[in-house]
Amino acid sequence: MNKDQFIKKIVCIGAGYVGGPTMAVIANKCPDYKVTVVDISRKRIEAWNSSQLPIYEPGLRDRVEKARGKNLFFSTDIDAEIAAADIIFVSVNTPIKTFGEGAGKAVDLQFIEQTAQRIKKNSSSPKIVIEKSTLPVRSADTLDTILHSGKNSVRFEILSNPEFMAEGTAIRDMEEPDRVLIGSHETPSGHAARDELVKIYSRWVPEQKIITTNLWSSELSKLVANAFLAQRISSINSISALCEATEADVTEVARAVGCDSRIGKKFLNAGIGFGGSCFRKDILNLVYLCEYYKLDDIAQFWQAVILINDNQMDRFVSRILKTMFRTLVDKKIAVFGFAFKPDTGDTRNAPAIYICKRLLEEKAHLSITDPHALPNAKKDLDGIDEGVKYIEDPYEAVKGAHALVLLTEWSEYCGLDFQKIYDNMKKPAFIFDGRNHLNHRKLFEIGFNVYPVGKPSLTHI
Ligand code: NAD
Ligand code: UDX
Repeated sequence: MNKDQFIKKIVCIGAGYVGGPTMAVIANKCPDYKVTVVDISRKRIEAWNSSQLPIYEPGLRDRVEKARGKNLFFSTDIDAEIAAADIIFVSVNTPIKTFGEGAGKAVDLQFIEQTAQRIKKNSSSPKIVIEKSTLPVRSADTLDTILHSGKNSVRFEILSNPEFMAEGTAIRDMEEPDRVLIGSHETPSGHAARDELVKIYSRWVPEQKIITTNLWSSELSKLVANAFLAQRISSINSISALCEATEADVTEVARAVGCDSRIGKKFLNAGIGFGGSCFRKDILNLVYLCEYYKLDDIAQFWQAVILINDNQMDRFVSRILKTMFRTLVDKKIAVFGFAFKPDTGDTRNAPAIYICKRLLEEKAHLSITDPHALPNAKKDLDGIDEGVKYIEDPYEAVKGAHALVLLTEWSEYCGLDFQKIYDNMKKPAFIFDGRNHLNHRKLFEIGFNVYPVGKPSLTHI
């Protein structure tokens, strides 16, 4: 399609885990829209324009290569792209504040404010500005105020369109979403803007899956959806502790409980706790909002989800220490998996970071292996030079180890030759399966002492 024939120009500010994949999907589904993703990071944009994309996500490369250079572009020329855009998605990072008021809880909105100022400065025609980033409820008020301040008479219409995709399944989640949520002002211009966005999604999403609400419901729903998902994980993890104390099996309990259609089966896998860039941050933000509105009891309820998650990681490390005769000094531990979940190289808030640091404090030697996350693992443990090796080949990583600790349930780990692994390990050989991923009975029969989460251990000692 000729450049001038595009019916609308979309710009996405922020070329990260959300901005890149969402825009690749929109570009594929809407070849008559010009989609440009911009970022302040030149390195990231260069990577998006190369064959080495900056993130690993199944199906992403295919979608990018199909549209790049046709109607999908990656650029650092933020000002020019804003000026030319009809529709602007804001997909910048919204981390937790590490300083000042609300440190450790409130969202750091500096990147959002910088983006809003830049949009205002470079706009001379009306634009739809869409919150794709996860934001505290009523953030659209702030955007509205910034965009309409001063002398600029350009009209902006703000929409909230939170992203529900999960990493590792981002492309599938975007191409076949459970729902698309669009919040708008309940005004004629708000509804007109909302209809523009509905028009885009309805190219591939059935109409009944496109939910429209007011702005505040949409903003809040994103935080609540993540809080509910994380709360299920903490619920089952809390029960895993009780299972370990009573010889009940958490997988059996989860199955029995999840078969109730009112409860459902998903997100009831006990393990070492949730990681990732969203759950912790979004619950902390919910807690902060509750406190801000003086709803302290409710804040405490949600804070408990995080407490249980922290506790789960601590319990896992304590179990390793207790089992391995209360000392890890100079013992080699092979860590299988560092990513916060499989099918991604992302390690943000990965339980592996905390668990590895705790094992190193006990003076263990770690050899960490992961099919996609080793570069990030090195950054996460930067400054810790002693006692850590990063080894791609799992068989090499586990040679001479006293224990194998599985922290990410990569499917390839199930296909490994565990007899060979056992033969190459020190005895007694321990496996701590932090994701209940492996065939425990088979490992036990090979000779391993097996410690799953929330299940009776299988041991020869
Ligand atoms: P990210 O850190 O991967 O990407 C954000 C990008 O924004 C970075 O490349 C950064 O350089 C860029 N950026 C920051 N300030 C900028 C500015 N002023 N101008 C231009 N670019 C700027 O973050 P992400 O994981 O893509 O998350 C983005 C938002 O989406 C967050 O609010 C997050 O909570 C939300 N979200 C994330 C996920 C997920 O799985 N990662 C899922 C749903 C929602
Ligand atoms: C999450 C939400 O699922 C997604 O809708 C939102 O847009 C972003 O945050 P993500 O963090 O990418 O997605 O992955 P998710 O599959 O939710 O897993 C998060 C963490 O929970 C992982 O560490 C995973 O291992 C853990 N988890 C998940 C469990 O421990 N048990 C489960 O049953 C499910």
